[in-house]
Amino acid sequence: MSEGNYSLASEILYQGHAPKGQDYGSPAAFPLFATTSFTMNSLTQVRQAYQEGFTYVRTNNPNRESLEEMVSYLEKGEKSLVCSSGMGAITSTLLALVRPGDHILCNCYLYGETYDVMTQLLREFGVESSLVGFDDLDAVAAAVRPNTKLLYTEVCANPTMNLADIPALAELAHKNNALLMVDNTFTTAVSIRPLQMGADIVISSMTKFMNGFSNAIGGSITACAQLIDTIKPIQKLCGTPGDPFDAWTIANNLQTVDLRVKKQMKNAAQLADALEQNPHVAKVNHPSLKSFPQHELALRLFAGPEEMTGMMSFIVPEQPERIEQFMGRLHFARYAVTLGGIHTTLNHPVTSSHRHMPDENRRKMGITPGMFRLSVGIEDPGDLIRDFYQALEVFGE
Ligand SMILES: Cc1ncc(COP(=O)(O)O)c(C=O)c1O
Repeated sequence: MSEGNYSLASEILYQGHAPKGQDYGSPAAFPLFATTSFTMNSLTQVRQAYQEGFTYVRTNNPNRESLEEMVSYLEKGEKSLVCSSGMGAITSTLLALVRPGDHILCNCYLYGETYDVMTQLLREFGVESSLVGFDDLDAVAAAVRPNTKLLYTEVCANPTMNLADIPALAELAHKNNALLMVDNTFTTAVSIRPLQMGADIVISSMTKFMNGFSNAIGGSITACAQLIDTIKPIQKLCGTPGDPFDAWTIANNLQTVDLRVKKQMKNAAQLADALEQNPHVAKVNHPSLKSFPQHELALRLFAGPEEMTGMMSFIVPEQPERIEQFMGRLHFARYAVTLGGIHTTLNHPVTSSHRHMPDENRRKMGITPGMFRLSVGIEDPGDLIRDFYQALEVFGE
């Protein structure tokens, strides 16, 4: 993706590099402001600091500001907030924007803990919520209520990769005076920018692809200035601003987001294609595949088959012992409950994210005990394909 005169790959190296609070010109790397507060010598300075400077770490910090600038650039939004986690981004935004009596209409394909926020936490505070498959736009339109304040979806859902038609959902939300809030964690702004497609708020768990090195936790919220100025005071009261060290770590790693995520998306498309041809694999879910039910929508939403997402899932025979052997035989991919890192990792939804769901309901969603979710890393794609092929041979022995 490129815009203006320069490409994302170049511009991201130069965003956010002039934080306030340091007097030594422009260091080549981000300085870390591991300080809880900034000291002052006069009440004039104190007044100035309250207006536009730094006072206390939960209110403002130069490392968070640098990262916020980078995220606003990536997502093409007016302003961003950096939070302590993806969940911090979600809960701070919702607590700021909804009130008892309001209704939130959610995609039923949701990250498990977002689902808990929508269906348990918010309901305890008098906020109504309902869930419907956002792949059926007529069903979404029928589920909107007069008090619907917000439509909530992920671009690409876990683990089936179901896509949400962001431009159509934005139109539907606005026709009903509601906001569209989108979770861009599985895709990132390298692949898609929901704000440019009409969404009002985009959030991400930066713990995943944005950071990419599996060594920090963070979340982001990006929107117009008016919405961010409404959310920021609530974020401060909830104590969800990100800490300087994680903001610094993520800012460093975010400089390579274009290199990493482009490679991960390309690797995922190549691996998905290879796995689909393997005789022991019953099904592969990746939007780049012609067999993917929403392939046409994928081609409309993304720039091309190799620029969609680094996430995918596939189904092997339901043979528990062989599944254990398959995992043990893999040289590269290890089991991990996180995703988006430079190493390829896998996850078994029936044992983890969907373990509490009745088997019948899971199967209706296409999630069987033979399903693995993959987060594809930056390894050589030929090596990854060879490794999966040799491990899959256990199903033929
Ligand atoms: C799609 C999605 N959204 C939000 C989150 C929450 O992010 P965090 O763990 O950084 O709070 C996750 C975590 O896995 C996720 O997968």
